[in-house]
Amino acid sequence: MDARGTCIAETMTSLNSLRSLFIVSLCSLVISTRAAGLQVDLTSHFNAKSASTGPNDTLADFDGFGRALPVEHLPKGPLFSDQGIDFHLPPFHNVSALDTVRSASQVIRIFKNTGFHSLHILATAVTQPSHPAENRDYALGSVNFTFTDGSTSTAGFVIGGWWNDNPFDGPIQTPFFYANATIDEGKHIEWNTSTIGYITVRIPSAQPLQSITLPAADAAIDVFALTLLETSPHKSSARLTIQNVRPTTRWMNSGATGSGRIQVIEVTLNNLAPLSSPTSQWLTVPHNVTLVSDALDTIVPGRVVRLRTNDQIVVKIGVKARMGVVPGKEANVTVKLVPDRRNSSTASLDGRTTWTIPVGIEDWQNDDSSLSTHEPPDWYEDGKFGIFGVYAVPAWAPSGKQYAEWYDWQLHVPANSSSPTWVHHKETYGENVVYDDFIANWTASNWNPDNWTDLFAAAGAKYFVLTSKHHDGFALFDTGDSSNRNSIELGPKRDIVKDLFESAKTRHPDLHRGVYFSLPEWYNPAYGPYGRRDWPGNPALNAYTGECCDPFVGYVEVADFIADIQKPQMETLFYQYDTDILWCDIGGPSAFPDIGGDWYNYAASQGRQVVMNNRCGANQSDFVTPEYTTFASPPFQKWETNAGLDPFSYGYNSDTPPENYQNASSVIAELIEYGPMSDGTVISEEREPLLQVGEWLSKAGNAIYGTRAWFIQPADQTEGLTDVRFTTTTSAFYIIALSRPKNGTLKTMAPIPILPMDRVRLLGGSDADLTWSIDETGVLSVDILDEELDLVNLPAWAFEVVYA
Ligand SMILES: *[C@@H]1O[C@H](CO)[C@@H](O)[C@H](O)[C@H]1NC(C)=O
Ligand SMILES: *[C@@H]1O[C@H](CO)[C@@H](O)[C@H](O)[C@H]1NC(C)=O
Ligand SMILES: *[C@@H]1O[C@H](CO)[C@@H](O)[C@H](O)[C@H]1NC(C)=O
Ligand SMILES: *[C@@H]1O[C@H](CO)[C@@H](O)[C@H](O)[C@H]1NC(C)=O
Ligand SMILES: *[C@@H]1O[C@H](CO)[C@@H](O)[C@H](O)[C@H]1NC(C)=O
Ligand SMILES: *[C@@H]1O[C@H](CO)[C@@H](O)[C@H](O)[C@H]1NC(C)=O
Ligand SMILES: *[C@@H]1O[C@H](CO)[C@@H](O)[C@H](O)[C@H]1NC(C)=O
Ligand SMILES: *[C@@H]1O[C@H](CO)[C@@H](O)[C@H](O)[C@H]1NC(C)=O
Ligand SMILES: *[C@@H]1O[C@H](CO)[C@@H](O)[C@H](O)[C@H]1NC(C)=O
Ligand SMILES: *[C@@H]1O[C@H](CO)[C@@H](O)[C@H](O)[C@H]1NC(C)=O
Ligand SMILES: *[C@@H]1O[C@H](CO)[C@@H](O)[C@H](O)[C@H]1NC(C)=O
Ligand SMILES: *[C@@H]1O[C@H](CO)[C@@H](O)[C@H](O)[C@H]1NC(C)=O
Repeated sequence: MDARGTCIAETMTSLNSLRSLFIVSLCSLVISTRAAGLQVDLTSHFNAKSASTGPNDTLADFDGFGRALPVEHLPKGPLFSDQGIDFHLPPFHNVSALDTVRSASQVIRIFKNTGFHSLHILATAVTQPSHPAENRDYALGSVNFTFTDGSTSTAGFVIGGWWNDNPFDGPIQTPFFYANATIDEGKHIEWNTSTIGYITVRIPSAQPLQSITLPAADAAIDVFALTLLETSPHKSSARLTIQNVRPTTRWMNSGATGSGRIQVIEVTLNNLAPLSSPTSQWLTVPHNVTLVSDALDTIVPGRVVRLRTNDQIVVKIGVKARMGVVPGKEANVTVKLVPDRRNSSTASLDGRTTWTIPVGIEDWQNDDSSLSTHEPPDWYEDGKFGIFGVYAVPAWAPSGKQYAEWYDWQLHVPANSSSPTWVHHKETYGENVVYDDFIANWTASNWNPDNWTDLFAAAGAKYFVLTSKHHDGFALFDTGDSSNRNSIELGPKRDIVKDLFESAKTRHPDLHRGVYFSLPEWYNPAYGPYGRRDWPGNPALNAYTGECCDPFVGYVEVADFIADIQKPQMETLFYQYDTDILWCDIGGPSAFPDIGGDWYNYAASQGRQVVMNNRCGANQSDFVTPEYTTFASPPFQKWETNAGLDPFSYGYNSDTPPENYQNASSVIAELIEYGPMSDGTVISEEREPLLQVGEWLSKAGNAIYGTRAWFIQPADQTEGLTDVRFTTTTSAFYIIALSRPKNGTLKTMAPIPILPMDRVRLLGGSDADLTWSIDETGVLSVDILDEELDLVNLPAWAFEVVYA
């Protein structure tokens, strides 16, 4: 249907529903309908200009501070495709036209009398690079939906910042932005990548949508394009459509190398039937999902066992390129759904089924376009729970300070009585003791790496991240010629990273090993030329006399910090220690973009899939690390929360972290913040909560490991319902109650994909089948005895729904 056709059809719909007042605007509101979505015309809402022709373009003002994006690096459009969705780009390339909606609760009317499955957004958070306090990686926003029956719903989301040292990836990137010289250190052009991101939220599709309300102004979000996916009501079976076929750079068979690898291709399937349709429009018969092509063979078919209306699933298919197909070669692939029981399929694929994609996994290059295709491996996605930032470094710092690892900084900034650390240090050690004097007293004499790795394993962690070097520049590994400031030459005289990694390798080979690595060093003499803000480089002036300078023990004279310290140290962690995770901190000047591709190739040659975060000073990242613990809904990017220690990277804390775990998690956080005692023991009060988590996971792990977040975010919490979170796998669905079900019943009004023959049981309970029912208002009730609830050792009750 072309744009005109839609317009006419819409006019009639509107007349029918007595909304003829809107006929005129109606035709401009719907630009076109295509399989890849219905693009919403934002023209009348544009209130700013992002695309700039140069530093003197005064119309362009992306953020209210006169910053703007170079027009020559923005796509021309009019259509732009990402994640299988077509967007109608704003008029970036018309120098006199506004092209941005700076959000301020604008109400966007939708004149199409249907329900919608999901909203897809090109947007960015307008964070302020020159204002560290505001320099967030992301913004939290929400869109509100108003339906024609007057009901409303809210969908929260996280969107990455347009500029940051710690990038969120996004489909539109420019290599620099036009800066405001007044606030950007005199610069007219800032050579940092700027990003416009993609987010999607599900829309409850029972009712036709009347309007979308954009986030309030204080969310500071710029919106560029909106596309809606419509429901398809007029059919009796499941309305399955393929939203996207996405080749990945991951492989399924860990350990395999080269052409032996089974590449993962992801297929995003939507069931576009309206939420309210009968279950005959659900997919209820298990299907294989295969790809047919002359360039590849499907080795491991994807599986879809259940897909309810208004839902989405991402299916993983394992393929191998055929002999002679050069990796990266484009090929046409056709998606096929094959039911287990041929006579009983209730599903058919509508719309487009053939995609043109590059096939195979190419070797890595040390450049942005190659590095940006790297992504976190399945072991990382499946693992969920890692133990992060086991700080041995501050172990020699005086305990009792909340941020022991920032001691060196807070001793010097500010160097006066308004710094509690400065006062504490003076009172406890006297003015003559300098930070580096602590090194000699850190012995790690009782440190037993086996005790740590055993504890990680007992806690149910699937990976750990050890601090290999914090901002004070003290390394816990062999830094070779680059520095003697390490635990081998000084203090404990041991290679802490090696000892821990060796222990893990022998005792718990499935535990993935990672390192935290600070890119800058506060007072390293060689960092001076790169210094900025909290990372000045150069030795510290004495905190009490102001004299130059405190010692920087172990420093070896080098020509350049990046080339001679940072790069060789990263390479040592890659090639000598075989780290699986590079968890950088702070970002900024970095060797990573010049060596990351080599690391990926090296790991791949061993069949290993490694992962890096978004603080490595690169223009891309495998996962983002927002330093807070609550999401309205998870960011589109892969993510990990890391408040102090990250004990709970569970799928379900995509919402609020389990409040009831606060006791456990705060004690665990202390393990990190206070550090183990300076002789290396982990005191028993700190072991206990980790072991409790381990016990819980040993019974309820099915609800966590290997699961994915559900596309449908939980409905708002209504009085009388249980506070729940959801995770999914191919064959089961999990409801995790974070408040104790009251009166012998768990109650939720989320549209759970449950059918009469399904079994429900409490993980860690008696294993009995539980009785459940759904009432006429859609509330699911699961009967559960108090005695069953009492069998679970932590206040988190995981219910497993096994699809019949
Ligand atoms: C911007 O304007 C200034 C002052 O008029 C001029 O000197 C400069 O060349 C202009 N820059 C560009 C890129 O046009
Ligand atoms: C640049 O920033 C300064 C300080 O915030 C502000 O006064 C000025 O208006 C900004 N310039 C533009 C072009 O917005
Ligand atoms: C550019 O935008 C202006 C202002 O909105 C508009 O009047 C003009 O027609 C546009 N030009 C083109 C070529 O679309
Ligand atoms: C969206 O709805 C929520 C909940 O009703 C409300 O608190 C919020 O203010 C609304 N946002 C906007 C921008 O209207
Ligand atoms: C990004 O901006 C920071 C701060 O101005 C600067 O130190 C850094 O070099 C820039 N990054 C690149 C890649 O130019
Ligand atoms: C994919 O199919 C289209 C349509 O049949 C054809 O034009 C195109 O050349 C094919 N592409 C490849 C890479 O085979
Ligand atoms: C589905 O895939 C599995 C695993 O490859 C295979 O054993 C089974 O035969 C397939 N089913 C159908 C109906 O093709
Ligand atoms: C499909 O076929 C199987 C065996 O071939 C039979 O048992 C089953 O009843 C059939 N199902 C339907 C829905 O016809
Ligand atoms: C401490 O130093 C800071 C930074 O130099 C200064 O702003 C503050 O006023 C000083 N406070 C005292 C109590 O001297
Ligand atoms: C190091 O240990 C010695 C002996 O216990 C003690 O006297 C000294 O104060 C300690 N120094 C520091 C900086 O903690
Ligand atoms: C620590 O490890 C040692 C050696 O493996 C073992 O003898 C000791 O019992 C462990 N201690 C704890 C608390 O696990
Ligand atoms: C639980 O049952 C009692 C007594 O039947 C009732 O008063 C109370 O409202 C119920 N609470 C909930 C949360 O349903």
